Amino acid sequence: MKGPLVLGVFASGRGSNLEAILEAIEAGKLPARVAVVLSDRPEAPALEKARRRGIPGLAVLPGDFPSRQVYEERLVEICRQHGVELVVLAGFMRLLGPTFLSAYRHRVMNIHPALLPSFPGLHAQEQAVRYGVRFSGCTVHFVDEGMDTGPIILQAVVPVEQDDTPETLAARILVEEHRLYPEAIRLYAEGRLRIEGRRVLIAPPER
Ligand code: GRF
Repeated sequence: MKGPLVLGVFASGRGSNLEAILEAIEAGKLPARVAVVLSDRPEAPALEKARRRGIPGLAVLPGDFPSRQVYEERLVEICRQHGVELVVLAGFMRLLGPTFLSAYRHRVMNIHPALLPSFPGLHAQEQAVRYGVRFSGCTVHFVDEGMDTGPIILQAVVPVEQDDTPETLAARILVEEHRLYPEAIRLYAEGRLRIEGRRVLIAPPER
């Protein structure tokens, strides 16, 4: 039998999605293992959260490399050294380019705090509040070379209230993120996701 799916998590900040994934694994709800956590910021709390659990937390700074290509080659090398099968972007604040994505084609996921294709990019919750939409939410998608443009795996919807600020909306969305991301990774781990063009088809559970 195949062992747990080996994950590499990339995070630039707080790491609450990383924690939600680790908790789902510990609770036996996600047949996976986080082998390494990588950050582009040495002070990212996500690194500390990983290390506290005995998971290598490595800061790999783009500025230490002569080009984006060499930087991404290093990321690929580290992932391969740790046997990473699926790369999980959890608040990783940089775009991955063709060097990384060609090595991990269709094996990189991201979570975005809006219902894509609405409000891609930075400050998605603020964009939603300003625009005046009644509903927003979060999206887990496969990563391609664009900004939040890859095939959508799962989405969750939350209402936007009249008196919401970007912060109150972000908090409501985050609750759903923490549920949705482990769920999407579980579908991948179970081999139930198939990409057809822009669409991701989800197979029923094996019984
Ligand atoms: C989340 O809102 C996620 O959707 C976005 O960045 C934030 C990361 O939060 N991509 P955390 O570091 O997982 O707490």
